[in-house]
Amino acid sequence: MKITVVGTGYVGLVTGACFSKLGYDIVCVDKDTAKIDDLKKGIVSIYEPGLEDLVQKNIKSGNLKFTTNLKEALEKTEAVFIAVGTPSRRGDGHADLAYVFGVVDELAENLSSEVVIVTKSTVPVGTGREIYKQLKKKRPDLVFHVASNPEFLREWAAIEDFMHPNRVMIGVDSVKAKNLMARVYNPLCINKTPIIYTSIEAAELTKYASNGFLAMKISFINEIADLCEKCGADVKEVARGIGFDDRIGDKFLHVSPGYGGSCFPKDTKALSYTAQQYDAPLTLIDAVIAFNEARKKSMGLRIESILGSLKEKKLAILGLTFKPNTDDMRDSASLDILPYLIEKGSKLNVFDPKGMKEAKKLLGHLPLKWKKNSYETLEGVDAVVILTEWDEFRFLDLNHVKKILKSPVIIDLRNMYDLEEMHKAGFEYHSLGRKIIKPMD
Ligand code: UDX
Repeated sequence: MKITVVGTGYVGLVTGACFSKLGYDIVCVDKDTAKIDDLKKGIVSIYEPGLEDLVQKNIKSGNLKFTTNLKEALEKTEAVFIAVGTPSRRGDGHADLAYVFGVVDELAENLSSEVVIVTKSTVPVGTGREIYKQLKKKRPDLVFHVASNPEFLREWAAIEDFMHPNRVMIGVDSVKAKNLMARVYNPLCINKTPIIYTSIEAAELTKYASNGFLAMKISFINEIADLCEKCGADVKEVARGIGFDDRIGDKFLHVSPGYGGSCFPKDTKALSYTAQQYDAPLTLIDAVIAFNEARKKSMGLRIESILGSLKEKKLAILGLTFKPNTDDMRDSASLDILPYLIEKGSKLNVFDPKGMKEAKKLLGHLPLKWKKNSYETLEGVDAVVILTEWDEFRFLDLNHVKKILKSPVIIDLRNMYDLEEMHKAGFEYHSLGRKIIKPMD
């Protein structure tokens, strides 16, 4: 089966590479000539474990091709997966569908045989229907079907998530589209992956509802953490306790300075915007958005209230990315916290294992000292602030850390360390939703 994937960003490339591994004849199309030239050589600019290797192997096997020529890519294709960006440019949550409908216009010009058009991009409910309408208007002669097949890929685990998903959502309204999608995902049925067929609208909304729910779950435990601090409970114990309830589940209950990344902030806002358009406001989601934004902003103040005046204070910042194992800085809490600390007069050494290049693009205007490794960052500072839970921070030599710090103070916004361990090591240790450890306790 030949499949065309339009857009070679994160989602498009993972989709194309994984489908090619399943044995399909995949052509990935993008307008960016330089990117396509690199991809043809097997060069992948995105940091995603296993992706470059998968791309290279499948180029070699002949299953995966790259082109800028859409017309050529559409020849004899049975399905076109649209995987272009849907950015949120206006700040009000409105998802910009210009790229999606740009592709639809080009499909109208270039399609010549029956095809199923599948949206992989995260699109607001109603987009599938609108694609059908617009294409039908431009090409009344063309036989085509529309389907929605949202992705639920986590950065750094994208290939695993694609190959072993919790479920595959397929929104269709024709037997032809359903049969084709069943064939496409048949190889995953071997692992007993649930394939859920729904209306196009339900599939589109499921993506937003999933991300909205997960964002709500994170915000819930973050708010409980605030209460724990006041009442003396330990949030890790509470999270463990509620997580054993099957109805709740133990995932996504890690306390944090607020969620970030390419999906949760954008998708929660888009979901809220869609709900307002339908005159069915989602007050819970609105509260989550407001809570998370306020939380990220409050973290600078929290650091200040622990350390007192920040003027001339030397701090080590460990971690800049929105989560570990990625170089992605989008909507990372560090983007709120670092400007605040600088504004208040502190001097910052910063380090992230993979995110330095991306971080420099967004934080390069600040007077930061960019360090090469954790220990260099910690040298001679008044306190350490952990913003991202990279494994290498978990395994620091605490005795050595204590020796090289000016004062043994750690503010851990990811609850990476055990309280007992910190106590034994003689640190003043501040985490979220847990008691404060003082060296003398
Ligand atoms: C997320 C969804 O998990 C994925 O299904 C969707 O397709 C895209 O968005 P991703 O953004 O890669 O994936 O990362 P994820 O691991 O979900 O983390 C998102 C943010 O939530 C991070 O900032 C992370 O630190 C935060 N988070 C996650 C918490 O604060 N606490 C948690 O318990 C889990």
